[in-house]
Order: sequence, then C-alpha cells, then structure tokens
Amino acid sequence: MPEIIDLRGDWATPPTPAMRRAMAEAEVGDDNSHEDPTVIRLEELSAERMGKEAALFVPSGTMGNLVSVLALAEYGTEIILGDKSHAYLSEAGGAAVIGGHPFRPVPNDRFGMLDPTSVEEAINPLDIHCARTGLLMLENTHNLCGGTVLTPQQTAELCAVAHRHGIPVHLDGSRIFNAAAALGIPAADLAAHVDTVTFCLSKGLAAPVGSVVCGPADVIERARQKRKLLGGAMRQAGVIAAAGIVALEQMVDRLPEDHANARRLAEGLAEYPAVEIDLETVQTNLVFFDVRPPLTAEGVAARFEEEGIRCSVFGPRRLRFATHYAVSRADVDRVLAVARQIFA
Ligand SMILES: Cc1ncc(COP(=O)(O)O)c(C=O)c1O
Repeated sequence: MPEIIDLRGDWATPPTPAMRRAMAEAEVGDDNSHEDPTVIRLEELSAERMGKEAALFVPSGTMGNLVSVLALAEYGTEIILGDKSHAYLSEAGGAAVIGGHPFRPVPNDRFGMLDPTSVEEAINPLDIHCARTGLLMLENTHNLCGGTVLTPQQTAELCAVAHRHGIPVHLDGSRIFNAAAALGIPAADLAAHVDTVTFCLSKGLAAPVGSVVCGPADVIERARQKRKLLGGAMRQAGVIAAAGIVALEQMVDRLPEDHANARRLAEGLAEYPAVEIDLETVQTNLVFFDVRPPLTAEGVAARFEEEGIRCSVFGPRRLRFATHYAVSRADVDRVLAVARQIFA
C-alpha cells in the first residue's frame, strides 16, 4: 500500500516537530482563570495579527463563531449570512439552536460574495412581526465557494451596510491567512472593518487544536463568558496554545506553496472532459470539482482511496481536495497520475 496522501481537508495535518517541542515545553496555568501564560501569549499575538484589542482561545472554529454570535447579538435577533456559509450549513445550526437566532440566508455568489443590496433588503424593519436583525456574518476564504477570497474593499462595503443600520459584523475567517496570502496583504486588512473575527490554527497552519476570536475587549470578555457556558473553558490549555504560537510564527508565510499546489492540481484535473472545474474559483488551497455521469463522487473517491489518496465528497458529483503542509508537489503529481487512470 503506498503512503497515504490525505487531501480531505487542510486540518489533516500532523503537528510539526517544532510544535511538538513547544507543546512538551509549554509553560502552563489555569486558562479557566485566564492564568495560562502560553494561552495569554497566543491571545496577544492573535489580537496583534488581526489588529484588534483582545482575543480569546477556543477549541474550534465552530465554537469561535458561536461565542462571537452570542457575544454580539441579542437573544432572539436574526442573523444574516450567506446561503453557502459554513455557519449556516455545517455548524449544527448552533446559533439558532443554542443562541435562539433565526437564520436569514442571502445568496452567496460564485466567489462567496454577498450582494450589498440583498443584505440591506434582508435587514428587518422595526415591526412587531419581525425578529430584529442582530448580526451580519461573512466568511473569508469561502469554503464551499472554493476557497475564494473577499477583498478588503468588498468586506468594507458589506460592513458599511450593516453598520449603517447599527448591526455588528462577525467574520468567519477560519482561513483568513489564506485569503491574505492570496492578496499579498496583512490579515489585519481583511479584519479591519468587522467587529469580531475567528481564525483557525488547525486549518492550513497545522496546529492540532484551536481557533482564536479577536475583537474589542468588552466583546471578548462577553465571549469568554459564553465560552464557559458552552463548556469550552479549558485548564492547562497552554499545551495546545503552544502549537498555535508556532502556527502563527512559522506556518503563515508558507501558505503560497499550498496555493501553488492547489493550482497545479486544479489545472491537471481540468484537462479531463469527465471533470468539471471552475478554475476561476481556485484562488487558495481548496480544489472543488464535479465529475460527469456515469461517474459519481463516491465512486471516484473510492478509486482514489484504493491508491492511498483521500478526498472529501460534497455531493452526488462534487469532490474536494485541500492542500496543506503535509502535501508536497511530488504528492500532487502522484494524485494527477492517479487522476489520469480514473479520468483519461
Ligand atoms: C469556513 C469554516 N468555518 C468554520 C469551520 C469550523 O471549524 P472547526 O472544524 O474547527 O469547528 C470550518 C471547518 O471546516 C470552515 O471551513
């Protein structure tokens, strides 16, 4: 059996040797009492990277999004978000189920953007029949749209609509460093107009666990209490935060390698008539594609799996490859060689 190439997600990464060393040596304390020096250092570094006042370490991107919603929006208010957003489709409906926030989805375009006019029209009037609108949520990069990037200008335009109506904005920036790398700008530029932002240390940056929420100090304090409510307050969490610090300091600058590998993979797949792929949406490290009948996504994934290559199935005909630091250019070439056997 050949060595496994795991392209199911950019979370499919073992911690780097530097992370394992940092974890073994981490100085720790009780993070529940905000006394863990390594967590505090990670939070300070994160806030600085996002250009925000304060930050909160949380176990996952899902919890980061949920504590942000709970900290920003009043109970029972509606959340405007993209109809293909992760928070709407893939987080077990947490904001609605736990936070009591009905969702108001508006269409994401092919690149993950929301139409500012549609967002404005989705804001409810102050009327006894309507739930008040409490939050706008954005996603950058946009996972289901292909790892596509919103620019600072697009983000600012959407934030301006929300803020004009007194509505705060949360950015699900799970892969914000990929967006920043694609645009060649600091991540803080992409977070400048939003109130809060979550990013993941465990996606693309190779940390084993963890995400960080960044925002104004008072909102982060409320988020800290919501993290407790959700059971996400940890004790000697410095052991995992230490890997997060290595992720921020050592793993961000190499993201363009993943983007180049994704591009190579996408262009290789595009050669086959059996594959349908929108190359314009391959902007970062995710490669979504469809297979034409009689092929099925499950069937194609099984064929790749037989050759030690793992991918994710996103629908009857839709698949995703994600590149990350454990995927080399030689691995990409092996995937393309197998693709030739399947599709040629
Ligand atoms: C865009 C986006 N947001 C949030 C999440 C949730 O992150 P986690 O799996 O750490 O809960 C994911 C996970 O894939 C994601 O792609």
